[in-house]
Amino acid sequence: MAISKDLLLLNKEKFQTKLLQWFQKNKRDLPWRKNRDPYAIWVSEIMLQQTQVNTVIPYYNHFLKTFPTIRDLTKANLSKVLTVWEGLGYYSRARNLHQASRIIANHFKGKIPETPKDLLSLPGIGRYTAGAILSIAYNKVTPILDGNVKRVLSRLFVVSGHPKKTEEFLWPLSESLIPKGSPGAFNQALMDLGSMICTPKIPNCLSCPLKNLCQGYLSGKPESYPLRSVKKKVPHIEAIAAVIQKDGKVLLRQRPPRGLLGGLWEFPHWKIEEKRRLRLRLRNYIKKEMGVNVEVKEPIGTFHQTYSHFKLTLHVFKCDAIDGSRKGKWIPIKNLSLLPLSSIHRKIAKTIIPK
Ligand code: ADE
Repeated sequence: MAISKDLLLLNKEKFQTKLLQWFQKNKRDLPWRKNRDPYAIWVSEIMLQQTQVNTVIPYYNHFLKTFPTIRDLTKANLSKVLTVWEGLGYYSRARNLHQASRIIANHFKGKIPETPKDLLSLPGIGRYTAGAILSIAYNKVTPILDGNVKRVLSRLFVVSGHPKKTEEFLWPLSESLIPKGSPGAFNQALMDLGSMICTPKIPNCLSCPLKNLCQGYLSGKPESYPLRSVKKKVPHIEAIAAVIQKDGKVLLRQRPPRGLLGGLWEFPHWKIEEKRRLRLRLRNYIKKEMGVNVEVKEPIGTFHQTYSHFKLTLHVFKCDAIDGSRKGKWIPIKNLSLLPLSSIHRKIAKTIIPK
């Protein structure tokens, strides 16, 4: 997998200049590029960790409007932060952002750290995010390597080993290419090239500023780099869920603070292995686990959601409570919009909120 050091040194400056010139002309107009506020850049990088740019933009704008400074985030309660994050998914990012803001207030005098060691000590910040924040906000020579950058570098230098193995090699390569004067622009140029030109399936090599330096292009098969990892089939979970109502209120439960969708509220639901006698089983589960007697009424609908490791289908029934409950919390229906719910539970909530 070794690439010729001579080749790299010979072409490095050309490569940097061509890429930076291309970026000047073609960079995407993104809201987090309007200033160099480290807090805003940190928020954007956390949102971009598992989510596409176009999805992030409205969430980023709303988040910064709600919490314009790190102090506003530190002072906010977690429930409010989760509500603003609602719909973006991977909620541990919001919890970590909130927790990290408090660590920054207590240990770093409210200033986003400027060293890899300090940044990496914060929850939710890994090597990529630290590199992005340091290079973009503080103009430090620190490398980045995400899916886009891996693809660009693997094609430029025809790197085709197992994706996990090649990382050891691509991180130092990414670092060695950064020009001293403009690390932030250079790293963002790599991101933009990866998402606009050097795309996974049909790269637009003819428009690429680096084509004459790209060994993947010159090989005639750029799309065969990097080696693709085989996607695992995700399991499909089915469950029955209950919208239990009484006197204008609905019974919800809150997920534990850590783990998947931690801290979010949801309609009670239980996994099923077969689709028989759903009403009877639902009534029994509700009695046993929520401590309330209900009459199970008509179905509300079937709802679907895909998560990173599984797909979920909820068969939802309307239920009338006959008595009180020992578990969960009765929430007035008119207050449902104030609580953080995951996407699938928000869809269910919408069916009972009067228009
Ligand atoms: N993906 C991750 N970070 C990004 C950024 N700062 N701009 C565009 N896409 C990104």
